[in-house]
Amino acid sequence: MQEFIFRNPTKLIFGKGQLERLKEEVPRYGKKVLLVYGGGSIKRNGLYDEVMKMLGEIGAEVAELPGVEPNPRVSTVRKGVDICKREGIEFLLAVGGGSVIDCTKAIAAGAKFDGDPWEFITKKAPVTGALPFGTVLTLAATGSEMNSGSVITNWETKEKYGWGSPFTFPQFSILDPTYTMTVPKDHTVYGIVDMMSHVFEQYFHHTPNTPLQDRMCEAVLKTVIETAPKLINDLENYELRETIMYSGTIALNGFLQMGVRGDWATHNIEHAVSAVYDIPHAGGLAILFPNWMKHVLDENVSRFAQLAVRVFDVDPAGKSERDVALEGIERLREFWSSLGAPSRLADYGIGEENLELMADKAMAFGEFGRFKTLNRDDVLAILRASL
Ligand code: NZQ
Ligand code: ZN
Repeated sequence: MQEFIFRNPTKLIFGKGQLERLKEEVPRYGKKVLLVYGGGSIKRNGLYDEVMKMLGEIGAEVAELPGVEPNPRVSTVRKGVDICKREGIEFLLAVGGGSVIDCTKAIAAGAKFDGDPWEFITKKAPVTGALPFGTVLTLAATGSEMNSGSVITNWETKEKYGWGSPFTFPQFSILDPTYTMTVPKDHTVYGIVDMMSHVFEQYFHHTPNTPLQDRMCEAVLKTVIETAPKLINDLENYELRETIMYSGTIALNGFLQMGVRGDWATHNIEHAVSAVYDIPHAGGLAILFPNWMKHVLDENVSRFAQLAVRVFDVDPAGKSERDVALEGIERLREFWSSLGAPSRLADYGIGEENLELMADKAMAFGEFGRFKTLNRDDVLAILRASL
């Protein structure tokens, strides 16, 4: 293992009926609240009304920032920062999926920053603080509800970057699986692909002696693989939603990466793809991940074979380790396809036109990836294999 310090201050409030706890949590931070949400799903499923009722009951003065886009934009972050500064906002409440939460993190940090938020998102300036914020999660996918990361897009320059700070952990996150029941099938599948990808990013490393970390990753993957096919045929099943929601949080709240350093190259390439084409994050991951795996396989064939046997039930008898590993990667591709996830860039109408541009975007901060360091040629090879 590598040395590590673990700290995650987010209070996780999980389960049916837990929305009520907003009335205990919000008053701790102030009366002037900015409610941040997306394109309207929370109005259609009634959550908006419930939240507003509770905020009314505690006498909160509520300003609103609706319309946060999937792949949230820095232009929306700027709008939120203006409201915070103008209205003296004391607390932000994100109600939505990862995009709404990520946007809220950037607004919270922007409200305590002298300058344009794009400066700290591109790491040209340090985050200097953040307003406190909480979340009500409506889509199981990113883990943003219990981590300090955020991903923001600048549509003018076609750039999409992840950033984070110890200041941007949510104070609390309320996870009632009931509110994920209205997530349509395609976004349910994207969420499943995203959380599995987060586990893969942390599973592929070269650190020796990580038996518990390996088994924890494998447990999350096995659970998701067992649950996902049932869920996509039974979208309003509370118990299946509950299992997937908990899996998504555990996949990226720091638990799996204690003592290891994950790879994260595929996420970096995907952010370049969705910066240029604005496709759903996990649609990109479903296409890219198996191709990244094949590209880096020889870095540690045994690790891929371990995944194949333990998670994808590949029978190793009479096969070379390499064949076992490749069969595992194939099973992953088949599993995601069986759920309806895309497998080629062509599924989004993406051809060769912008491969070079996407490679440039991915290389913005130089070579990357800890399992295998990727250069521009590696990125192009993975993108070509994904066409
Ligand atoms: O905008 P609304 O109307 O709310 O609709 C959303 C959106 O269209 C809809 N939705 C959400 N909850 C719903 C619902 N529809 C019906 N019922 C509900 N209960 O789903 C659509 C997608 O929402 P979005 O928030 O964009 O999805 P997700 O949670 O997958 O977030 C994706 C963003 O997170 C970033 C991605 O890059 C992408 O920008 N990521 C953030 C990470 C982090 N902060 O740790 C890590 C991830 O790897 C990822 O990169
Ligand atoms: Zn992701």
